[in-house]
Amino acid sequence: MKKIYTSVHHLTFLLLLQVLITHASRSSASAAAGNEQKDFHIVYLGDPPEGVSAVEHHMHVLSSVKSNDEAVDDMVYSYTKSFSAFAAKLSPSEAQRLSRHEKVLGVFPNRYHKLDTTKSWDFLGLPKTAKRNLKTERNIVVGLLDTGITPQSSSFNDHGFGPPPKKWKGGTCSRHANFSGCNNKIIGAKYFKLDGNPDPSDILSPIDVDGHGTHTSSTLAGNLVPQASLFGLARGSARGAVPGARIAMYKVCWVSYGCSDMDLLAAFEAAIHDGVDIISISIGGVNAEYTSDALAIGAFHATKNGILTVASAGNDGPNPASVRNHAPWILTVAASGIDRTFQSKVQLGNGKIFSGTGVSLFQPKEKLYPLVSGFDAAIDEDNKETARFCYDGSMDAKKVKGKLVYCKLGQWGRDSVVKSLGGVGTIVESEQYLDIAQIFMAPATMVNSSVGDSIDSYIHSTRSPGAVIYHTQEGKVDAPFVASFSSRGPNPGSTRILKPDIAAPGIDILAAYTRLRTLTGLDGDTQRSDFTLMSGTSMACPHVAGAAAYVKSFHPNWTAAAIKSAILTTAKQMSRRVNNDAEFAYGAGQLNPVRARSPGLVYDMDEMAYVQFLCHEGYKGSSLSVLVGSKSINCSTIIPGLGYDALNYPTIQMRVKSQQKPTVATFQRMVTNVGRGPYPVVYNATIEAPKGMEITVKPMTLSFSRVNEERSFKVVVKAEPIAGYSGILSGELVWRSPGHSVRSPVVVYKQQD
Ligand SMILES: *[C@@H]1O[C@H](CO)[C@@H](O)[C@H](O)[C@H]1NC(C)=O
Ligand SMILES: *[C@@H]1O[C@H](CO)[C@@H](O)[C@H](O)[C@H]1NC(C)=O
Ligand SMILES: *[C@@H]1O[C@H](CO)[C@@H](O)[C@H](O)[C@H]1NC(C)=O
Ligand SMILES: *[C@@H]1O[C@H](CO)[C@@H](O)[C@H](O)[C@H]1NC(C)=O
Ligand SMILES: *[C@@H]1O[C@H](CO)[C@@H](O)[C@H](O)[C@H]1NC(C)=O
Repeated sequence: MKKIYTSVHHLTFLLLLQVLITHASRSSASAAAGNEQKDFHIVYLGDPPEGVSAVEHHMHVLSSVKSNDEAVDDMVYSYTKSFSAFAAKLSPSEAQRLSRHEKVLGVFPNRYHKLDTTKSWDFLGLPKTAKRNLKTERNIVVGLLDTGITPQSSSFNDHGFGPPPKKWKGGTCSRHANFSGCNNKIIGAKYFKLDGNPDPSDILSPIDVDGHGTHTSSTLAGNLVPQASLFGLARGSARGAVPGARIAMYKVCWVSYGCSDMDLLAAFEAAIHDGVDIISISIGGVNAEYTSDALAIGAFHATKNGILTVASAGNDGPNPASVRNHAPWILTVAASGIDRTFQSKVQLGNGKIFSGTGVSLFQPKEKLYPLVSGFDAAIDEDNKETARFCYDGSMDAKKVKGKLVYCKLGQWGRDSVVKSLGGVGTIVESEQYLDIAQIFMAPATMVNSSVGDSIDSYIHSTRSPGAVIYHTQEGKVDAPFVASFSSRGPNPGSTRILKPDIAAPGIDILAAYTRLRTLTGLDGDTQRSDFTLMSGTSMACPHVAGAAAYVKSFHPNWTAAAIKSAILTTAKQMSRRVNNDAEFAYGAGQLNPVRARSPGLVYDMDEMAYVQFLCHEGYKGSSLSVLVGSKSINCSTIIPGLGYDALNYPTIQMRVKSQQKPTVATFQRMVTNVGRGPYPVVYNATIEAPKGMEITVKPMTLSFSRVNEERSFKVVVKAEPIAGYSGILSGELVWRSPGHSVRSPVVVYKQQD
């Protein structure tokens, strides 16, 4: 229930959505068995016995807790391709009995999750003219799990594309309701809605009614579209990271229901089977063990098949430990800002001019409009406190008509409420979200509290207050910075692994949109556009997935871990000046796609390394069965992972408990040479450590005489006791050769009590 569209754009509907989803997930449990209510569950199994098909095996297992007829009715889906599992309706007692069944590895309730560029690629240093390996890029297929896609968009026309690559096993995609079918750019489009509950606000087809999936797809792999803009704003050529790549869309998120575990897993299975190269998933995660988190489980199976999963970190920042999708085999992406803002000026009747943020595409017709505060426009005394926030039904239309209204931010969409009462526009005061440009459906802007206070006192200092909001203009800001909403570390799942992994642009990103929805989706909005701005870690994620596809187009044989390592160790360093939460805000730093193409060295791993890691983390072998797909995992018979974190991770994190003695940990690492000669290539370790932290590396020099050669080294991190200190210390280890520098942030933080 905690999964959200990780786009702030959708915060507009968050409150409404929450109500709907809570309702939906309650009512999703349909028929009652006796007095017991049945809910959707996912049941994981090992391989079927010899001579029995997986589907028969699933039915057989389900029939052990209910009658055959009931089993047929309640079976929802069989996962048979990359793992063995089924989804079914179960009562609590049936679920409990199944979890004790000898063939069953795990039983989990199905959760419902909410969904949480023109310029961004140039800003990241991936210009239109960047070197491309177009021949292999055309063979790259990127898979997105999202809200669907808009085949009509010029970002996805297939001019110049040949037939799908030979490795594609996704078949041809058929026409569906309101969906014209695939082409040679969108080579796959499937939808998953296993709960069977009709969604009146969506269409049962891969078409994108929401806009989110169209937006993320075009950021990842959209064609170059010159002169894209939002009614003239953010004008430029829109393009994805890999405009030559093919797209496969797996629609798992529905406008009023969000995205369910059962559908996510089915989509992962299909994407792995179809032959996608990279999976991008801009959906909010849960704070749960990896072995009960459908997204982490799906991503693990993808990793096993050589497919990197890139996911959004979440929009619950700046709260500490809010980062999600934090399994070590996922590449977890935070959102940063680029150097462009969208500002509207507000002028008051006394001549004072203030600046507010947001996209307001309206030219004022008058010099000045009467101004009232929501508080003063309340229907009655009882409604004054809700009217302060301009809540629906709290204000008197007679007091609002023809006026600008000043409100505090409690919910998005106040512009719609004010307009519906005949108001002219809205000035919203907020302390949060001032770094993103909300799109408005009527004249509006968002100001900070000090401006808000000035406006409020102006309103009460004159008999006929007035104001005007001007059309939005583009402005410049210092960048990069980390978005206020971007979820922060420390990692709530594994204290020894740094999360988020990296930051990429996720503020005011221009990308393709659907004509099936207005820009805001609010009542009374009539604005539609083929491109729009959205903000969120949802928007940051496809930037990194695109960079991963770009790297893969040069190195088709690299493992998921190697691609991830290349992206992390070449990131552009950010510093505490950018954000005080340091690595907990931006991980290894800002994505740098061109450098990621040629990292020099990589920290490589296979899926067994993650199992060793999980054993080291204290996961029971029996729970790991769900990931590995067999009952026989026994941690005490598995060679343990080495060192403090037991994983060859490209970043380093140590947690210090509050104590008197210094804390010391040894990290064991191994790098693989992926650079070209001339040989021998020698890398020297360069270390930086702040006061209170000491880093030593052994050996300090690594010499390579051929490609794919491996070298091991040890990093010892020592931290002085940090009394009364909360926060993090940031150091680094950089391996430098004449042609490359391979950087790992080294983070020490104190356990929060
Ligand atoms: C979808 O297609 C149906 C049938 O052609 C049509 O009536 C409906 O208006 C379409 N919906 C949208 C949102 O375009
Ligand atoms: C509030 O916004 C105004 C206008 O943009 C700006 O000058 C001022 O510095 C801001 N105040 C704070 C506390 O951020
Ligand atoms: C990738 O692997 C395939 C099959 O193992 C091999 O034929 C091919 O040469 C490899 N490509 C590169 C660039 O290493
Ligand atoms: C795991 O292996 C150890 C050592 O071989 C053995 O003692 C233990 O019983 C096994 N545990 C399980 C649950 O099979
Ligand atoms: C690495 O260290 C060796 C020995 O100290 C030195 O000769 C060499 O120039 C260094 N290389 C680089 C790239 O700094």
